[in-house]
Amino acid sequence: MEQKSRSSFSGRVGFVLAAAGSAVGLGNLWRFPYLAAQYGGGIFLLVYLILVVTFGFALMVTEIAIGRKTRLSCIGAYKALDKRFGFLGWIATLVPVIITPYYCVIGGWVMKYLFTFVTGQGMTAADNGGFFDSFIGFDAGSLTATMLDFSGPTPWFLLFVLATTVVVIFGVEKGIERASRFMMPILAVLAIFVAIYSLTIPGAMAGLKYYLLPDFSQFSLSTVLGALGQMFYSMSLAMGIMITYGSYMKKENLLEHSVTQIEVFDTLFAFVAGLMIIPAVVAFNGGDPSQINSGPGLMFVTLPMVFESMHFGEIIGAVFFLLVLFAALTSSISLMETIVSVVMDKTHMKRKPATLVVMVIILLVGIPSCLGYGPWAAIEIIGMQFLDFFDFISNSVLMPIVAVLTCILVGHVIGTKVIADEVKEGAGAFHREKMYHVMIRWIAPVLLVTILVSELLTKVFHLFSI
Ligand code: PFF
Repeated sequence: MEQKSRSSFSGRVGFVLAAAGSAVGLGNLWRFPYLAAQYGGGIFLLVYLILVVTFGFALMVTEIAIGRKTRLSCIGAYKALDKRFGFLGWIATLVPVIITPYYCVIGGWVMKYLFTFVTGQGMTAADNGGFFDSFIGFDAGSLTATMLDFSGPTPWFLLFVLATTVVVIFGVEKGIERASRFMMPILAVLAIFVAIYSLTIPGAMAGLKYYLLPDFSQFSLSTVLGALGQMFYSMSLAMGIMITYGSYMKKENLLEHSVTQIEVFDTLFAFVAGLMIIPAVVAFNGGDPSQINSGPGLMFVTLPMVFESMHFGEIIGAVFFLLVLFAALTSSISLMETIVSVVMDKTHMKRKPATLVVMVIILLVGIPSCLGYGPWAAIEIIGMQFLDFFDFISNSVLMPIVAVLTCILVGHVIGTKVIADEVKEGAGAFHREKMYHVMIRWIAPVLLVTILVSELLTKVFHLFSI
């Protein structure tokens, strides 16, 4: 059923733009800088870059090729390759179900900041974290009052989910996509401008060094796991999405070349976001990188301070957050769309009820993440607050599991030749075939299993040894 009437992208540029649109989002702007700051700056950047050009490349080629070969989205595609691996499609589908709710929570934070800047109060947010902490930690006493008050994150989350839902129900992605085609380049230019400005802040050079020069003493397996999870998240891998995109790709389009372009695009965005934020936060914190207290709030705490020190900072901040909101919306739309299409396929529901059901799930799963830093701050799951827990489970557990099983399926069950032949179709050659083969068969699975097991054991020991 899924096989009939599969539409295609108009051409290779259309494919690259759509896939890059899914890839570039909060992962690049919000998540990458805070992880880089947290995991030792330069060493994280180095590990990340190595992973992107080796494993990231191999996994993206694999997923797009699987989609283009089977012409199915991920649930059907894994099953079509090998019946025993059908369950993998379901695990991959679970990833967006976990990510979308908290993605919308962060999207809500962006809305709040946009509103704050547009109403001329942007400078009140430039107070080294006080504004941010009282926003996410908001507690009005009773739960209902907390959830309805725009001083806290929940109503902003609801608005963001509603905006995403409306687009998915009415199927007006096309309009949003068209808008994002010119919004994204503007965002890129503005981000470069802000990054250059950040570097001129007195004390920023220490931060730049921290960001660019690897300090090998900071290296640990957690750095690799952090970078790996970020790579999956940022490149939209290990969640079945690139399989779906691949299923819309034409045979004559150059697969390997497209992957390279998406990778470069996505990584440049993340790199510039880091340049914008890391040197500035070091400068604002007295020039000592070891003093930065980095977490999910980093972008929201640092950028208002950068804007405050700029001419026309209030306007630049408003435009910036508007563009980030767009990048976040295009991503949340594609995340929600993925879940809705599975629900429609499997239950035969129509688009509208299916979307409403998914919306309710997103709301239910997302609300604990909204309240998790405020009234529910005392509740911790394996030592983490709700949002951090959902982030951990999807990026550090489920996605590596999906990736490892995909490597085993391709490397040891169906054989890498099946994928290599698909890549060669239309292109004639697969330039990095040897590297691909070794990566998928040996390096990636061994690396993944080592890291997964060691990280999980550390977490479990940490939990029980207290
Ligand atoms: N890759 C996106 C980001 O970096 O923000 C997150 C994402 C969006 C993942 C859309 C998956 C997806 F379908």
